[in-house]
Parts: sequence; C-alpha cells; structure tokens
Amino acid sequence: MSTVSLGERPSISTSLRDATATAHERAERSDFIDDLMAGRLDVRAYSTLAAQLYFVYRALEEVGDDLNAADDTKPVVAPIFDERLRRLPRLAADLDVLGVDISTVEPLPAVTRYVAAIDATRADPARYVAHHYTRYLGDLSGGQVIKSRMISHYGIDKDALTFYAFDGIDKLKRYKDGYRDALDGLPIDEAAHGRLLDEAVRAFEFNEALFAELTA
Ligand code: HEM
Repeated sequence: MSTVSLGERPSISTSLRDATATAHERAERSDFIDDLMAGRLDVRAYSTLAAQLYFVYRALEEVGDDLNAADDTKPVVAPIFDERLRRLPRLAADLDVLGVDISTVEPLPAVTRYVAAIDATRADPARYVAHHYTRYLGDLSGGQVIKSRMISHYGIDKDALTFYAFDGIDKLKRYKDGYRDALDGLPIDEAAHGRLLDEAVRAFEFNEALFAELTA
C-alpha cells in the first residue's frame, strides 16, 4: 500500500540552511567581513578576529565535549561530533605565530553574550547543534575563502592560518554532505527541531554582533 505524505516537513539540514540564509547574507556583507575580504584592513584586524574566536571555540568545544560524554545528551551530539573539527589548539597556535598573547585579551561584549549562549545549550543539546553547525560548516565553506584572501591580501603565513586547515578531511564538499546527512538523522522531535532553527539564527546574529564590534 502506498502512502501519500502531505505537507512533509523539510529535513533538518534544508530547514537550517533556509532559516539562516538571510542572516548568512548579512554576515557575509557586514562591513568588517567586507573590508577584511577586500583587503582594506590589515593583519591586526585578522588577529583581533582570531583572538575573539578563541573564546567562542573554547566554549563550543568545552560544552561539546561535555554533551558528548553524558549519556542523556550524547545521542544528539555524537552524530556531528568529530575530533577532526576541533579548532581551539589551532587557534592557540595561530595566535602564537601572530604574536597575540591571549592571556592579555578580553572578550568583546558580543563575544561574552555569544559564549553565554553556547554555555546555556548544556540544557538543550539541539540548541548546541545550532552553534556547532554555524561555526564549523562556515569554517569548512566561507572559511576556506577567508584563508586564501588573508594570504593574498595581507601576506599572512599559512602557519598562522591553521584554523582553516582540516587535517584528515580531504574532500570538504563530501564531508559537508555527510554532515548534513548526520543532521537529518538526529534523534530530535519537532519541538527540538524548532529550537535548533531559532538558535542557529541567533548564532549568526552573535557573529554579526561580533563583526559590528570589530568595526567599531
Ligand atoms: C567571508 C564571508 C563568507 C563567505 C564568502 C561564505 C561563503 C559560503 C559559501 C560559498 C557557502 C556554501 C558552501 C556549500 O554549500 O558547500 C557557505 C555556507 C555556509 N556558511 Fe558561509 N560564508 C561567509 C561567512 C560566513 C559566516 C560569518 C558564517 C557564520 C558564522 C557562515 C556560515 C556558513 C554556514 C553555516 C554554511 C552552511 C550552509 C548550509 O549548507 O547549510 N558563513 N558560506
């Protein structure tokens, strides 16, 4: 017997991409990113961004480790959790090469709010997934363009851009397709799916707020 599915909901990956498309465009066109990508800024601007991202990834990876280790939250986080994505040691190494002593850097107000939001997802792993998606899929996509522009515009050494190098992942496109399949198989209900979408839009907004503060 065949069944007709009426009004089937879009998959998690499709709905995420759709829900964040406008926010993505805004982030990509923000003054800071636009200036950085056009070569109108300098190495310091990139270093400042990398230093602020240090606090974001510290939270993202600490919370991810904890959620992936706990029996009740692991089923939601494990499908997307991947050691090859871990960025904090790379950011730390990049900052060293860039001559930034992170112990002297304070998070900007937007980053403090961003980190608090990531931390709050300890209570709701579906919301955690939103932050994971927003940053890592971004790094695997636009991040690759950022890397090449930082080299060509500012002469930043590749050794200071290991943040964008994903060892052990050779085909980024294939990896992202696999990531989207993992998203689509997450064991979450409709309500959690809705919270994931809301949180992804917020995650983009935190990035936009960071860019606005970097411009100011
Ligand atoms: C320099 C600015 C940026 C450029 C040039 C850029 C470019 C791109 C491109 C070309 C894709 C499509 C990749 C694909 O489908 O395989 C993409 C996807 C994505 N980008 Fe960006 N991006 C930029 C900034 C950002 C920012 C600031 C964020 C968030 C922090 C972000 C998050 C994402 C995410 C989550 C995806 C995956 C969308 C999906 O397929 O679900 N991007 N980006």
